[in-house]
Amino acid sequence: KRIVVLISGTGSNMLAIQQACEEGRIAGQIVAVIANKASAKGLEKAAAKGIDTEVLSHKAFASREAYDAELNVLIDSYQPDLVVLAGFMRILTGEFTRHYEGRMLNIHPSLLPKYKGVNTHQRALDAGDEEHGVSVHFVTEELDGGPVVLQAKVPVFDGDTVDDLQARVHEQEHRIYPLVVNWFCQQRLKLEGGRATLDGQP
Ligand code: GRF
Repeated sequence: KRIVVLISGTGSNMLAIQQACEEGRIAGQIVAVIANKASAKGLEKAAAKGIDTEVLSHKAFASREAYDAELNVLIDSYQPDLVVLAGFMRILTGEFTRHYEGRMLNIHPSLLPKYKGVNTHQRALDAGDEEHGVSVHFVTEELDGGPVVLQAKVPVFDGDTVDDLQARVHEQEHRIYPLVVNWFCQQRLKLEGGRATLDGQP
């Protein structure tokens, strides 16, 4: 299967997925990594792995609709089976998300439906939560609101900082995202009737 990964930053999840592809743990390959800013650190890492990279800066577009339409064309030029959002810090239009319905995944650093949006680690600390975590979900029009496929929990310890918590969550991200991507590539994971199913089971 052909995978296109969208990033805005470090790209550690992208690398974890690439490594899993190389090791045969994902039945697919990353055919392109696309960033919305040239400064995204993950671009060099992808290029070093021999993956095609593209930058489509949102700054050159007058509207969200115009940007998403161009991004849509760029992604589709790679004919992906799956689009993977891995720290892509953009809100996507309904038209864009509908176009990739059932074939676009996101990873969000919280136990959804808790803490949609940004600053999730800080918010978990502020709330005094005893556990926190990460969710992989299908992307729908609602921000961080699509059907959850898999979650991993981490404990929150006394005295944890945002960095501590983020590092603990990242470890789990690198474990579960490749797993879910592989399920999709093996055609075991589907979005059916608005629900995520694995081997036909909810
Ligand atoms: C991750 O924490 C992910 O959950 C969030 O953005 C971050 C991306 O990290 N959506 P990286 O660029 O993959 O290192």
